Amino acid sequence: MGEVLGICGSSRKKESNTAAIMEEILRATGKSYELVWLCDLNINFCTGCLKCFSDPSVKGVCWQKDDMEGLIQKMLGCKALVLGSPTMYGNVTGRMKNFFDRSIGIDSRGIGPEKKLEGHGRSPMAGRPAALITVAGGGDQEKTAANMRLYMVYEDLDIVGEIVEAIGMGDVRENKEIMKKARKIGEEIGKRIR
Ligand SMILES: Cc1cc2nc3c(=O)[nH]c(=O)nc-3n(C[C@H](O)[C@H](O)[C@H](O)COP(=O)(O)O)c2cc1C
Repeated sequence: MGEVLGICGSSRKKESNTAAIMEEILRATGKSYELVWLCDLNINFCTGCLKCFSDPSVKGVCWQKDDMEGLIQKMLGCKALVLGSPTMYGNVTGRMKNFFDRSIGIDSRGIGPEKKLEGHGRSPMAGRPAALITVAGGGDQEKTAANMRLYMVYEDLDIVGEIVEAIGMGDVRENKEIMKKARKIGEEIGKRIR
């Protein structure tokens, strides 16, 4: 487990531009880090039962026994979070959306400050530095970013930087400007981790 956790919603393990940017950010933090590929994990769909959210006896843990609880433990244990997703139809990938949905129980574990929205539990990751990445082939990356931001704001994360770019199908590592921006975000996250 690293101090900085990166969660990647792309399934293109060999050529993902999302992951290339994420790796640059993670490296630049100068801290220990882990990049988790959602496609490597077995995470069932959220059934919407809300047991994890509203049944105090389960303490925020989903009844589905899959890899989600392990990922939640990594989230609780990290000092900073980087989320990355390709843009698909102007939104995050299905894997990333399902990750959002399955993580709702994190707010029902009695950890962290109460959310501003009454009755919505606590934010265990409140104030932790965070960054978001979304890349698109041609456009609509802003719509994806809006969804990712919504999640991060809901969890009271401190968004340090964003990479929201349409970069075509080429290799983003050849785009010096984007990679430089990624390094700067990573450095800033590193500075904010005590
Ligand atoms: C199902 C699907 C939907 C997509 N939708 C969009 C889109 O709405 N807008 C866009 O510009 N690119 C779209 N793309 C292209 C991806 O955003 C692009 O290939 C992205 O860079 C892939 O990220 P990755 O390299 O991290 O896997 C789509 C690709 C797929 C497979």
